[in-house]
Amino acid sequence: MPLDRLSDFKSFKPGMNKPIRKAIFPVAGLGTRFLPATKAIPKEMLPLVDKPLLQHAVEEARAAGIEDMVFVTGRGKRAIEDHFDTDMELNKTLEVRHNLEALDAARNTEIEPGRLFYTRQTMPLGLGHAVWCAREMIGDDPFAVILPDDFILSDTPCLKQMVAHYAQVGGNMVAVVDVPRDQVKRYGIVDVAQDQGRSVVVAGVVEKPNPDQAPSTLAIIGRYILQPDIFKHLERHRPGAGGEIQLTDAMAQLIGLQPFHGFRFDGRRFDCGSKIGFLEASIAHALTRTDMADNMRTLLRQYGRACGQ
Ligand code: UTP
Repeated sequence: MPLDRLSDFKSFKPGMNKPIRKAIFPVAGLGTRFLPATKAIPKEMLPLVDKPLLQHAVEEARAAGIEDMVFVTGRGKRAIEDHFDTDMELNKTLEVRHNLEALDAARNTEIEPGRLFYTRQTMPLGLGHAVWCAREMIGDDPFAVILPDDFILSDTPCLKQMVAHYAQVGGNMVAVVDVPRDQVKRYGIVDVAQDQGRSVVVAGVVEKPNPDQAPSTLAIIGRYILQPDIFKHLERHRPGAGGEIQLTDAMAQLIGLQPFHGFRFDGRRFDCGSKIGFLEASIAHALTRTDMADNMRTLLRQYGRACGQ
């Protein structure tokens, strides 16, 4: 029988189901697929309608009970610091003009003093390396990782769903989605030891496998809950697929020693790292907004007709 519960593991530590209060946002990538837009604007600051991807991610973290936000930034990412800062002058101007809606939007970007941490990844050596750069801020606590370019539309925010499941099973958890077999090469893919419906017990993970070698079609997307033991494995700085230091390779080292689950969340995920995924997410997001949905539907009908549908 596959190992499933905390108590099944020899390396059980009481901390393995400690509440998740910290999240890492790796935002140091080059965003080459969005050049030239990302030459001076971080990819994570591209907006879905009027809210940057990274702010959507921070709001998801807040909804899940995260208190400390750790941004791993790099060269050319200064706009991120400005965005989450308090802009006294702007707030004052909006107050004087009684533009309360805009004031509210501006204030919503602010993160409580002492709860926002920045660290730099001086070279974009891969996601695993970016996460490792945040090790001092995480210390000995379990933590979440959110990739802002995976945007998820759901009634209950994805990380909140994961945190609720983690409270029952502890250990490590990754959000997973079923993808067509010809797309597995774009993802980390899990090897399933036991399918429990809502979640799967993970027997292994493999980064960007060829379709004929993939152990399943369950792909890991950008939401993780991890135990701090992962840093020991990331420390080795071993390059993996594509010559990058992969988070998946370090996760693989924890499997069998600690509980490790894949979690099928309720909701729809959009790959905003790709242009078409980003456009689709913008449309899907607009359709959820009461201030825009009607106009958006009218537009889509017009374009549908123009496309002969
Ligand atoms: P991607 O794999 O989408 O890479 O990173 P990228 O550099 O952002 O974009 P492309 O492929 O060149 O267009 C997924 C997330 O991981 C972060 C990115 O900022 C993004 O949020 N990341 C990636 C890092 O922080 N550091 C890295 O070394 C790589």
